[in-house]
Amino acid sequence: MTISRHQSKTLPPAPPVGEPSSPADQALASPQKALHLVTFGCQMNKYDSERVEGRFRKAGYALTGDIGAADVVLFNTCSVRDHAEERVWSWLGDLKRQKSARPDLVVGVMGCMAQRLEREIFQRAQHVDLVVGTRAFQHLPEMVETVLGERTKARHERAQPLSLVGMDENPDGDREGEPYTGGPIGYLAIMRGCDLNCTFCIVPNVRGRVLSRSIDELEREARWMVERGAKVLVLLGQTVNSYGEDLPAPEHGSKGRGRQGRPSLADLLYRLQAIEGLVRIRLITLHPAYVTRELAIALAENDKCERFLPLPVQSGSDAVLRAMKRGYTLDLYRNKLALLRQYLPDLELATDWIVGFPGETDADFEASEEFLSEAGFAVNYIFKYSPRPGTRADLLPDDVSEDDKKSRNLRLLERAQRVQRERLAAQLGNVQHVFLEEVSDKSPARAKGKTRQGLLFVVDCGTAEKAQAMLGTLVEAVVEQASAFGLSGRLAQDVEPAGASHV
Ligand code: SAH
Ligand code: F3S
Repeated sequence: MTISRHQSKTLPPAPPVGEPSSPADQALASPQKALHLVTFGCQMNKYDSERVEGRFRKAGYALTGDIGAADVVLFNTCSVRDHAEERVWSWLGDLKRQKSARPDLVVGVMGCMAQRLEREIFQRAQHVDLVVGTRAFQHLPEMVETVLGERTKARHERAQPLSLVGMDENPDGDREGEPYTGGPIGYLAIMRGCDLNCTFCIVPNVRGRVLSRSIDELEREARWMVERGAKVLVLLGQTVNSYGEDLPAPEHGSKGRGRQGRPSLADLLYRLQAIEGLVRIRLITLHPAYVTRELAIALAENDKCERFLPLPVQSGSDAVLRAMKRGYTLDLYRNKLALLRQYLPDLELATDWIVGFPGETDADFEASEEFLSEAGFAVNYIFKYSPRPGTRADLLPDDVSEDDKKSRNLRLLERAQRVQRERLAAQLGNVQHVFLEEVSDKSPARAKGKTRQGLLFVVDCGTAEKAQAMLGTLVEAVVEQASAFGLSGRLAQDVEPAGASHV
C-alpha cells in the first residue's frame, strides 16, 4: 500500500474482523459524525459503497442524505465513459461553495476516477482532501481521521491532501461487526478486476487484474447477508464466468469444475444454491469466451439461478469485434448462445452494444442491427463509443462523426425496442413468479419486481397495504400487458382461471 502526499507513510491496517473496536474507533464514535455518500456508475460501485458505509458505521458514523448535515462527503466514481467523469467534475464543482462555507468538511473521491486521475483531481478540485482507489477504500475511516488529526495539528489550516491508490490489497474481507444495509437485493462482488483487454475499455486500468475471492469466503458473506434479510444475491464481476481462473488448482482433495480442477463459477453456484432463505441468484456480467457446458449445466441444475444472463456482444461485425479484441467472432457468440439455450430453453439475455467504434462502417453497423434481431435480446444497453485515454482504441482515429454515432444509436435503439416488444409480448397470458422489490412510483397498489427470466414486472396487488406486505417475497402473477421494457398484470389469485400456462 502506498500513500502519497509529501512523503510516503503507511496507514495502520484495517481493524481485524470481529475484534473489539480500537481506541481510534471509539474516538470516532463520539460525538456521532455523519457521512454523505454519492455513488455513480455500475452495481460494483454500489457494492463498494455499501462496504464503505459498513466500515464507517462500524466506526460510529451515521449516514445522511443531506449534504449540508454531513461531516464527510464521498463520491464513488465511474470512468467507463467520458460523460460519467464529467458528471463527477460537475458535482465536485458544486461542492466547492459548501466547502468554503464549512472548511471543516472532509471531501473524498473514491472509485475508478480516483484510481485513474489521482493527481489531476487534487489539481482541478483543490477542495478535495482524499483520493482513494478501487482497492483501498477499506481504509477510508482511518484516512478521514488522519486528515482531521492533521488539521488539528495545523490549527485548522488546510491539511495536505491524502491519497491511496495502491492495487496490492484485496478490499473485501469479512463484514462481522458491520451492519448490513443492502435490503432484499444483496450485491456481492465475487471477484475484482479484469484480465481481458478490450481495446475500448478503461476497466482493466482502473480495477486491476483479476482477483477472485475464495468460495468459502463468499459463502460466508452470502450467509451473513441472507441472515440479515437478503433474498436475491447479485453476484458481481466484470466477467463473473472467469471466476476462479486465477485461483490455484488443488493438488489433491476435491476438484472444482474449472480448468485443471480449479474452482469455478459453477462450483460457487452449487454452494450458494444450498443456502436456506436465499430465493434467487443473479449474475452480472458474463463474457462469451468463458461460457462453458459446465456453467450451462450448473445454471440448469440450480433452480435459484435466474434464467437471465447479461452477455455483452458489443458489435455484430467480426471486423469490429476483432478491432475491439473481444476474443470471439460472431459465430463463436452464436455457438455459446446455442449451448446456453440447449440447457436453459427459457433463457432471456441482456447485452451491451457500442456504436461508432473507430472504423465502424455502415455495413458493420447494419450487422449489429441484424444480430440484435437474430439473437432476440430482451434487454439492450447501447453506448456511443467514447475514447478513453490510456486504452488501445484511443490510439485509433475516432473517425465516426458524432452525428453518425447519434443516428446509429437511435437506429439501434429503435431496433432494440421492436425486438424487446416482440420478445416480451410472447409472455402474454403466462403466469410468472415475480420477486417484488419496490412499490411503484406511479401507484402505491402496484409493486415492481423481476421474473425468473430477469424481466421487469409491475404487479397490481390490489391495495397499497398488500403491495407493501408483498415486498421481498415471490408472488405468482399473470402477464396482462407487455411493452418493450417490461410486463404488467395482476396476482394470479385475483385472476379467474382461464388455462394460463405456468412459467
Ligand atoms: N465487463 C463488461 C463491461 C464493462 S463496461 C464486459 O465484459 O463487457 C460496461 C459497458 O460499457 C461495456 O459492455 C461497453 O458496452 C460499454 N463501454 C465500455 N467502454 C466504453 C467506451 N470506451 N465507450 C463506449 N462504451 C463503452
Ligand atoms: Fe472491459 Fe472487456 Fe474486461 S469490456 S471489463 S476489458 S471484458
